[in-house]
Amino acid sequence: MMADKKTATLSFADKTLEFPIYSPTAGPDVIDIRKLYADGGVFTYDPGFTSTASCESKITFIDGDKGELLYRGYPIDQLAEKSHFLEVCFLLLYGNLPSAVELEDFEARVTKHTMVHEQMMYFFRGFRRDAHPMAIITGVMGAMSAFYHDSTDITDPWQREVAAIRMIAKVPTISAMAYKYSVGQPFVYPRNDLDFASNFLRMCFAVPAEEYEPNPILSRAMDRIFTLHADHEQNASTSTVRLAGSSGANPFACIAAGIACLWGPAHGGANQACLEMLREIGTVDQIPEYIARAKDKDDPFRLMGFGHRVYKNFDPRAKVMKESADEVLDLLGIDNNETLKVAKELEKIALEDEYFISKKLYPNVDFYSGVILDAMGFPTSMFTPIFALSRTVGWISQWKEMIGDPTQKIGRPRQLYQGATMRDYVDVEDR
Ligand code: ACO
Repeated sequence: MMADKKTATLSFADKTLEFPIYSPTAGPDVIDIRKLYADGGVFTYDPGFTSTASCESKITFIDGDKGELLYRGYPIDQLAEKSHFLEVCFLLLYGNLPSAVELEDFEARVTKHTMVHEQMMYFFRGFRRDAHPMAIITGVMGAMSAFYHDSTDITDPWQREVAAIRMIAKVPTISAMAYKYSVGQPFVYPRNDLDFASNFLRMCFAVPAEEYEPNPILSRAMDRIFTLHADHEQNASTSTVRLAGSSGANPFACIAAGIACLWGPAHGGANQACLEMLREIGTVDQIPEYIARAKDKDDPFRLMGFGHRVYKNFDPRAKVMKESADEVLDLLGIDNNETLKVAKELEKIALEDEYFISKKLYPNVDFYSGVILDAMGFPTSMFTPIFALSRTVGWISQWKEMIGDPTQKIGRPRQLYQGATMRDYVDVEDR
């Protein structure tokens, strides 16, 4: 961490304390309050971590006001246009764009690991057919630590590396298997002559009776979805991965924890919730009723796919995703279905509505990704698994960075306790 000469002074009761201020390469200054409790005997209170930097990182930067997202310094729109997912994986993991030789070697390493242990099939069979794929993927990812014993020692850099490659390579296979299981079709093995996105589409949509020919436009759109979701600095699931990893848990267990966190509708589950909401709205004439509900303080309903904790101007991923959505819908000749009409009209109305403008609520990436995935033929239950698949590389990069950080400690937040103070136990007959 860069030692800066700037300090912040905090005065309370009879104390005056000084804390160092660090200047990041981008973003607001950070006050180092690690000595606050030792020197001042108080904690800070910040539920939701809205003002707390939990770690130092060099991976991803977001400027929410400018609508900027950088992976290792590269803007997301440039990567979405010029790069592809496996190159982005290399960038996130190792910090720089690969040379041609490095890229070829990395692609070969990932491709070699796409199959899962044959015995893992039995795990799938233990689930009900109607299990949510996120439940299956969380379980199977965690179970990988029971299969790959040679990559669970977190103190060994080689094992950390193998675990990373294994997870990036196998998560599409596991996700596609979860899907196939839910629709009662046989699992489709990966094909290593296909690119990452085409292979995933084929594992989802091929059947033994009929081969699947990946369409380059759909593969490209799929690859972009992976790229746009690959990392997003210290969001809820990434922080979960770091917190789980801070105890020394093995990498498969940590990523499983991240997948579980991602599932919630305020986070990765929003893409599924968004499409379900569009279907529930049903027809354009129903939109005003839902807009009114979203504004009503007494109604818990929120417009899914709108708003973001960090982006308060626009979500740069949404911009790219909107272009992709147009390409995919055009290719598939879908321009008039009712859900799409509702989506377009809702986007228009919300962007013009004073409530949404004043609260800086814009369509986020999930709003458009749901529309694309639906058009591609994925059921809504697969939307969040596809997000998890994409984010795996980000979680791993952040986990590896944390393990390599000498200042890393077990995560252990404090609390503002408001419960009962000490009282004596009362025997049941006396209560
Ligand atoms: N619809 C209606 N009102 C909303 C919405 C929404 N989608 N989002 C926020 N608001 C309102 C809140 O009611 C609040 O109003 P108030 O100031 O009058 O109390 C104000 O806007 C601020 O909202 P917060 O909840 O404080 O903002 P926060 O940063 O905590 O929440 C979140 C961000 C969780 C993403 C929220 O906007 C939301 O629930 N959106 C819908 C779910 C969604 O699309 N999530 C995907 C996030 S992107 C991703 O994970 C890839």
